[in-house]
Amino acid sequence: MVRLQYATEAGEFGHMPPPLTLRGMAKTAKELLKGTKANVLLDKLGERLAFERTGVRLYDSLIVKFEATGSWEGGPSLEELVAFRSDEARHFDVMVQALVALGADPTAMTPSADIIAVESLGVLQVISDPRTGLAHALHAQQIAELADVAGWDLLASLAETLGHSELAAECRRALAQENLHAASVSRWLKAHAEVAARGELEHAVAS
Ligand SMILES: [Fe+2]
Ligand SMILES: [Fe+2]
Repeated sequence: MVRLQYATEAGEFGHMPPPLTLRGMAKTAKELLKGTKANVLLDKLGERLAFERTGVRLYDSLIVKFEATGSWEGGPSLEELVAFRSDEARHFDVMVQALVALGADPTAMTPSADIIAVESLGVLQVISDPRTGLAHALHAQQIAELADVAGWDLLASLAETLGHSELAAECRRALAQENLHAASVSRWLKAHAEVAARGELEHAVAS
């Protein structure tokens, strides 16, 4: 009953910031005139930007785990972790460019960016805990990668629907890389479970 009362009385979760520049405002207004709500796209761009920035930090921490404990047979190599980190950084940059091109402020915390930041708190906690190993951290990272795949898929569809075909193509390129991330993390975790089940984990060495 108390939760219901709070839910009916609470206001909205965050709000969209106004456009940054006059030029941007004019463009945003134009979008609205075309019958689309520009804020919906800007909110989702802000969400993706926030999550990709977090993605870079997650891979930074995964690289530390790797350096601390090494990998296992069928586990990740340092080169793969470093390459995936670069992918996340590039995806972040794609979102910065997209927001700037639309006249929006890429540093703004949009409502969906705020929501996804709260969602990823558990993942960050597991990965930044010094007691967790690389496999524990990758198990948490799997949540981030699956959310990444879903997020880019949604953004590609939305951009396409709103007629931003260049942005949609960029999103699909990122989606292809995120699919590789998700499949790789899944493969590493399966290999870890198999090595552990064979009782061979103590022989795991850094590659
Ligand atoms: Fe990502
Ligand atoms: Fe990713």
